Amino acid sequence: MPLVNPIKLMKVAQERGLCIAAFNVHNLETVQAVIDGAAKQRSPVIIQTTPGTLRHTGIPQIAACVKAAAELVDIPVGLHVDHCSSFETIVRCIRHGYTSVMIDGSHLPYTENVALVREVVKVAHAAGVAVEAELGRIGGSEDDLMVDDTKAALTDPAEAEAFVEATQVDTLAVAIGTAHGQYKGKPKLDFPRLSAIRNRLNLPLVLHGASGLAHEVIRECIRRGINKINIATELKDSMAEAIKECFCKDPTETDPRRYMGAAKAAVEKVVREKILLCGCSGLADEL
Ligand code: 13P
Ligand code: ZN
Repeated sequence: MPLVNPIKLMKVAQERGLCIAAFNVHNLETVQAVIDGAAKQRSPVIIQTTPGTLRHTGIPQIAACVKAAAELVDIPVGLHVDHCSSFETIVRCIRHGYTSVMIDGSHLPYTENVALVREVVKVAHAAGVAVEAELGRIGGSEDDLMVDDTKAALTDPAEAEAFVEATQVDTLAVAIGTAHGQYKGKPKLDFPRLSAIRNRLNLPLVLHGASGLAHEVIRECIRRGINKINIATELKDSMAEAIKECFCKDPTETDPRRYMGAAKAAVEKVVREKILLCGCSGLADEL
């Protein structure tokens, strides 16, 4: 089916205490693996690309690729730009058919973050596109975004309430102790803070840095009000491992259909597991 604005999906998830899985893609094979995996689980899904990926693939090329793959299946697929701090890039993504955008002003002082998000909300809503913003600062590294521990900051619940009111943003990414990339030690999440944010806010909440979290931790986040989880690192790792295994087995292999075929199968397996964990299997048939 045609790409959908995923806010509808996340609102249904919020009403039912579920969570929509969002996966970062990097190329044709990861797009196919995410959409095929979600279609097999009969689940709605969000595909997302960072600005680094947009530079790698080109905006029109990746947007056309996701649109074409989504039209071949009968599950809702949203297309989202992840961690974008550029207003211009967001406008270009919307022009090329993105149905959702994240304007990441989390590095800015509060008032500047509010001003930037408001500008994006104005143009995105006029185009029927959803907007995610971040308050507090998620640590770790994701493509060209690097936030060291000294700069990471947890979301303040009262400030989050004022931020949502001032910006009219559709969804909020919360910093509660998760980080992008591989976890060095055991992640320590601030669950009471998540509950305090949920008690003040009636909009879908987003958990970044969900790769590498134990299933029980993700379930607890969903119970306490998370409605979208972002997975990037686990897809990259599974793809790289599958390709390395192919070349270890046969160092003379040169056929991309073989090593990328193995990569696709490995990514699809992770996608299906995460969707099951989110409780969204079968949801596409109920919408
Ligand atoms: P991971 O690095 O944990 O996969 O985080 C993904 C993410 O938050 C993308 O925005
Ligand atoms: Zn993120």
